[in-house]
Amino acid sequence: MKKTKVAVIGFGYIGSVIGSVLADRGHEVIGIEKDSRIVRAINEGHSPFNEPGLEELIKRVKDAGSLKVTEDVSCATGCDVFIITVGTPLDENYGPDLSQISAAAQLIKPYVRDGSLVMLKSTVPPGTTFGIVRPILEETAKVCLAFCPERLAEGRAIQEFLNIPVVVGGIDEKSTETAAEFWRDSLGVEVITTGDAQSAEMVKLADNLWIDLNIALAGELAKLADKMNIDVLEVINAANSLPKGTHNVNILVPSVGVGGYCLTKDPWFVHSMGKRYGLDLKIPRASREVNDSMPDYSAYLIDSILCPHGEARSGKKIAVLGIAFKNNTGDCRFTPTKPVIEKLESLGYILKICDPWTTEHDARLVTNREVSRNIKETLEGADCAAFLAGHREFQELSITELAARLKPQALIFDGRMFFSKQKIREMREAGLRYKGVGR
Ligand SMILES: NC(=O)c1ccc[n+]([C@@H]2O[C@H](COP(=O)([O-])OP(=O)(O)OC[C@H]3O[C@@H](n4cnc5c(N)ncnc54)[C@H](O)[C@@H]3O)[C@@H](O)[C@H]2O)c1
Repeated sequence: MKKTKVAVIGFGYIGSVIGSVLADRGHEVIGIEKDSRIVRAINEGHSPFNEPGLEELIKRVKDAGSLKVTEDVSCATGCDVFIITVGTPLDENYGPDLSQISAAAQLIKPYVRDGSLVMLKSTVPPGTTFGIVRPILEETAKVCLAFCPERLAEGRAIQEFLNIPVVVGGIDEKSTETAAEFWRDSLGVEVITTGDAQSAEMVKLADNLWIDLNIALAGELAKLADKMNIDVLEVINAANSLPKGTHNVNILVPSVGVGGYCLTKDPWFVHSMGKRYGLDLKIPRASREVNDSMPDYSAYLIDSILCPHGEARSGKKIAVLGIAFKNNTGDCRFTPTKPVIEKLESLGYILKICDPWTTEHDARLVTNREVSRNIKETLEGADCAAFLAGHREFQELSITELAARLKPQALIFDGRMFFSKQKIREMREAGLRYKGVGR
């Protein structure tokens, strides 16, 4: 592999994974990050994000001297490759806020040269690479410029970054080829090229719209299954055996809700693209609406079992297990667990909260209450154990342990669908009650 000096602008969740892996693959990586907390953590050899394998990886590349993270953009002098991974949040009108993208382009403008390779990995509305980034950089140099969507999922980020096919769409043929060569050479993964940057930008939005809509479909099937008293997972598993087109039907699983930085905004990017072209697209709004309803629905399920006749809730204790938006990650951005907790608190339940994956900084996004790391203590004497994230520590709990800590007849609320039929049977035999979303 050709060793290259690579600048990664925005060393957040995605940037730190991409930058660390590229450093591990032998590139010299300079991370440019404005958050001093992140810069300090990484330069001390720690991961600022609780992502499996990232801490070890950062330590390894720091020790090898192939990664440096700094607030000083002048350290990008001499870089051949620039990767932009800054944030792209929603604005107050549910449209894309691209201010970090233009700021990042302005930041690197003095350091790019003719032939430098610049790649955008942040999720953006189609037209951003060509219409916003290109004009800024062209004031300095004739660069190769491409959009390469980042499609990894948190919790499995490193593994996915190393294995998922990379999509590349450049502003011209040379840009597409240069970017494709970089990823083939650096990761050895399959590279899929699109005819232009706009199409590559649309690929990422199409992926996330599909995921959000598919989870919404599972959510509505779950609501129906609850009314019909059938098991939605049994329905979904059997339905997914049907070949359709080149693959099988593939309905995802319902849960307490959809959170995180991407699925909560990317469908809105599609919606605002539609508006730009005079289209009132129905799917993005519908999938967001359904998925946003699931936390309240989950709180209703818990409440309707613990207090079926609307009796006083004040003495009842709920052990909340997991506040991150996803299994095996500490990320609490836009987590659906927050509205569940708020709803249960407003109803008058006493909550004890535990998440072994979240840092204190992450936890403050959700609650001002203490968030413990001690699972067993959290369960002690509770009327309900509400599993809102499916972290592996929770999956390792035995039914005997749950029954010993919880009150007799306590409710196990399964917000992430990880209990097998066998375990559910064991729960009932141990004097516990079980309720999942749609089962
Ligand atoms: N988190 C995911 O799972 C995921 C997956 C795929 C794609 N994405 C996309 O990747 C992008 C980044 O997501 P993220 O989760 O890593 O966000 P993040 O907020 O964790 O990271 C962005 C980082 O960029 C830094 N930054 C912003 N402007 C800067 C500047 N001018 N100079 C230096 N640093 C700057 C911020 O301080 C922040 O640390 C988004 O567009 C997101 O949609 C995220």
